[in-house]
Formats: sequence, structure tokens, C-alpha cells
Amino acid sequence: MAVTRTFSIIKPDATRRNLTGVVTKMLEEAGLRVVASKRIHMSREQAEGFYAVHKERPFFGELVEFMMSEPVVVQVLEGEDAVKRNRDIMGATNPAEAEAGTIRKEHALSIGENTVHGSDSEENAKIEIDFFFNKEEIVG
Ligand code: CMP
Repeated sequence: MAVTRTFSIIKPDATRRNLTGVVTKMLEEAGLRVVASKRIHMSREQAEGFYAVHKERPFFGELVEFMMSEPVVVQVLEGEDAVKRNRDIMGATNPAEAEAGTIRKEHALSIGENTVHGSDSEENAKIEIDFFFNKEEIVG
């Protein structure tokens, strides 16, 4: 299996509850390496741009407000089959449907305040990494 990269966000509900380290530890224990990381307070432009694919969804306004509400930690994760590995440790979008031991089952508050974001494909991982990081910030 090839070593690949994916993009992750530790969301405002997690930074607010001081769970940055706890979540990062779960990612690392799942075999992912943090090769870039920064704590930012998203602007409206960034939140709307990042989630543009969801702009017709009824929850879009709520999603954007939430992502701007408190700091987030954006990360690039590296590992074997990183996209799938990250999605497995994150668990289902809705924490009520997530498996035991996943980040969302253990820590998410609701489908909106669901602790982490992770890319859903390698193609989107590249787009999402480029949205927040330049090459010099990623040190593998
Ligand atoms: P994420 O992986 O960041 O991608 C889009 C986000 O939209 C998703 O996680 C959820 O946090 C959010 N989302 C999806 N469905 C709903 C919903 N029904 N209500 C509120 N937020 C949602």
C-alpha cells in the first residue's frame, strides 16, 4: 500500500474543549503522521470557500458559522492509504452512527459539531491541502 497524504481539521468543538492533543494522539495511534499543522481562526471567506461544495445544503450557513466560531487546527496527515485510514479512525459523520473507538463516537457532540473533518478522496485531499498549506509548510 502506498504512502499518501490526507487533510484533516480539528474543529471548533474540539479546540474549545482542549482536545487537540487527544485527537492528534488518536490519529497518530492509527498510523498517521502529522507532517504539517497550524492553528488558525477561519475567516468567512475561508469557511465558505472550503465548504463551497455544500453551499446548496440546508446546513451550509450553520456549518460556516460553526467553522468560524473558534480556532481550528488544520493538518496534513501522511501514512499508508492515508485517506481511508483517517476516515476509519474518524468514524461516521453522524456520531450516533459512528463505531466505538472512533474519534467521532468518543468525542463528537452532534452531526454539525463532529470534532474532525477528513478528505473523502485522494483527489480532494490534494485540493484541500493546497487550500490551506504551501509546500514549505509541509515537512514529511
Ligand atoms: P465534514 O466532514 O466537515 O463535511 C461537511 C460537514 O457538514 C460535515 O462534516 C458535518 O459536520 C456537516 N453536516 C453534515 N450534515 C449536517 C447536518 N445535517 N446538519 C449540520 N451539519 C451537517
